[in-house]
Amino acid sequence: MIRFSHAPDDSDPALATHLPDEAATLALGAQLAPALRSGLVIYLNGELGAGKTTLVRGVLRALGHGGNVKSPTYTLIEPYVVSRLNLYHFDFYRFTSAEEYLDAGLEEYFTAQGVCLVEWPQKAQPYVAPPDVVIELTTTTEGRDARIRPLTETGRQCTERLAAAPPPLR
Ligand SMILES: Nc1ncnc2c1ncn2[C@@H]1O[C@H](COP(=O)(O)OP(=O)(O)OP(=O)(O)O)[C@@H](O)[C@H]1O
Ligand SMILES: [Mg+2]
Repeated sequence: MIRFSHAPDDSDPALATHLPDEAATLALGAQLAPALRSGLVIYLNGELGAGKTTLVRGVLRALGHGGNVKSPTYTLIEPYVVSRLNLYHFDFYRFTSAEEYLDAGLEEYFTAQGVCLVEWPQKAQPYVAPPDVVIELTTTTEGRDARIRPLTETGRQCTERLAAAPPPLR
């Protein structure tokens, strides 16, 4: 189970934790999975190789997805239907202009019926929907630091569920 060194309080609802290895990133994804609800938009921020796709892999495995979780670097979006959720994984790294987001018709995925997990959202600004939760992954000398910040009421409910989550079943 991922323990948060910074638990949410009224003045700062963000969560923080250290992820010493890839397994810890997967475990954070697994812990996030049951906290997801349709309509959530989650930005995954962090440099190349920070572990964003790994986190999504942890989410999807915990929701029962048995297949591959490949990076949407070339496809822009990878859709999944898992555990009664429509989950959409985006990666806008390759955009050379934000208008490519509009040209690709990706707005249609950002509805109350989908959960959107977005890598490189800044490449689609100002067009991509604003986030309910921002997860920031930072590379450290040993592993990664994760900071999870809610920006809306539904985002706050998500991070509260995450902080209260029991350990994932194995
Ligand atoms: N907590 C961790 N500590 C050390 N290595 C990790 C950790 N989490 C993930 N990794 C490793 O980091 C590498 C890059 O991970 P990943 O592809 O998920 O990054 P990314 O943020 O999606 O990169 P990109 O921006 O290129 O899409 C992988 O080899 C993965 O195993
Ligand atoms: Mg990635």
